Amino acid sequence: MAAQAESALRLSGTVGANKVMESELLRLVKRSPFHVRLPNPARQGSTALRYPFDPAVAWVAACYHRSSSRIGWELVSSPAVRLEPLVADLVPLLAADDRLPRGRSVTFTVEVKGAEDFEAGPLQLRGAVKSAFEQAMQKRGGRAVVQSRAADWAMLVRRVGPENERRTLVILDLGGGPRHLRGQRVAQGPAPLRETMAAQLVLLAHWMPHVEPLVDPTAGSGTIAVEAALLARGFAVRKPADLPALRLPVFAGLPPQAPPLYPDTRPYILASDVDEACIAWMIGNLRASGLTGRDIEHSVVVRTMNAIELTPKRFADILPDAPRERGLFAFNPPYGRRMQGEDGDVLGLYRDLGRTLRRFDGWRAAVIVANEGFKAAFNARPSMVKPTSAAGLRAEFLVFDLGRRQAGKRRISGARSTSHK
Ligand SMILES: C[S@@+](CC[C@H](N)C(=O)[O-])C[C@H]1O[C@@H](n2cnc3c(N)ncnc32)[C@H](O)[C@@H]1O
Repeated sequence: MAAQAESALRLSGTVGANKVMESELLRLVKRSPFHVRLPNPARQGSTALRYPFDPAVAWVAACYHRSSSRIGWELVSSPAVRLEPLVADLVPLLAADDRLPRGRSVTFTVEVKGAEDFEAGPLQLRGAVKSAFEQAMQKRGGRAVVQSRAADWAMLVRRVGPENERRTLVILDLGGGPRHLRGQRVAQGPAPLRETMAAQLVLLAHWMPHVEPLVDPTAGSGTIAVEAALLARGFAVRKPADLPALRLPVFAGLPPQAPPLYPDTRPYILASDVDEACIAWMIGNLRASGLTGRDIEHSVVVRTMNAIELTPKRFADILPDAPRERGLFAFNPPYGRRMQGEDGDVLGLYRDLGRTLRRFDGWRAAVIVANEGFKAAFNARPSMVKPTSAAGLRAEFLVFDLGRRQAGKRRISGARSTSHK
């Protein structure tokens, strides 16, 4: 096993995110202006997808993909577990890598994660990769200068592969850093959900914005509602101009703008919370995300409301033009672990939520929750269970069919999902 140049486009996410990341990318590429075929990815565990590199696909992912945590271009990998052999492996490979510019000066950062099995600490490993990159760029007639803020490039260092074949992988970040930092949240409640998790929740539930309203009855700062609206309209996560790595020659000729992919979709969304303070946060976050304008302001609404007071009639009064035959509740209720003694209360809330939401015959509920008591208290059998982690806790994505109609009837033939197929 020798050191080698790598070339895959890499999408990584939270535990179990592979499937949803893959179907999201497929949908985006189909909708994009490019006529490219997306090959099946190789999966690395349940958290990373590797695609043969295509600049158009990389551009689409970097600009639009919402469920992944990081997007990068694999550059080199080495089996070395000590610092000197690692540098000796990396320098010649990076120096010969014609994806990197010649005779140019770039600023960069190095981020190391999950390298516990390397025989030196993360800071030393970081220093080694930094030094290798500096030497390689010098050999290419240029200069690489470490800069902690607003650097041109971010190098990601990860340990990957099966136990007896572990390698140190160096990746060039293409996606503008951690993707949950959307750069548009202006306010957050005490327990905000990561944007990437909110996107996963909506995608996993196969929300159909053309025929289903979406309701988040415990909306906090509105993360799920904002992500749902942005998914429905196909808004970009990042502008190409904000991604310096997209200035590499291989991306020349790709569009300078990333306009919404579904600008005419008018999603119906209700975000409510019992806590009045949340309203200002939600409005701020919707506006900061660019969800403004008459049509969207009338179809995405926020309310102060105790979730257990929601009825089909009340919903119809709030969003009279929205479809009602079916719909999706998408929420993350309080987990009851952060604040001591809250567990008993949250089980009561889950039970009341189950009773309330079952009034919505033909609807579904998609939940992310880190409390094992949720399913029993909600008193319904999920049609989908997917383990994940949230706020450092073991959590689950759950999908339920509500009301009298049961599993098997929830997909309407010919209808379009968030997938907007
Ligand atoms: C985990 S937080 C939701 C966080 C939200 N997804 C976000 O990203 O900001 C749970 C929310 O449930 C709300 N909540 C608790 N009990 C409620 C009830 N009976 N009705 C409506 N909201 C409730 C809390 O005020 C809190 O904002």
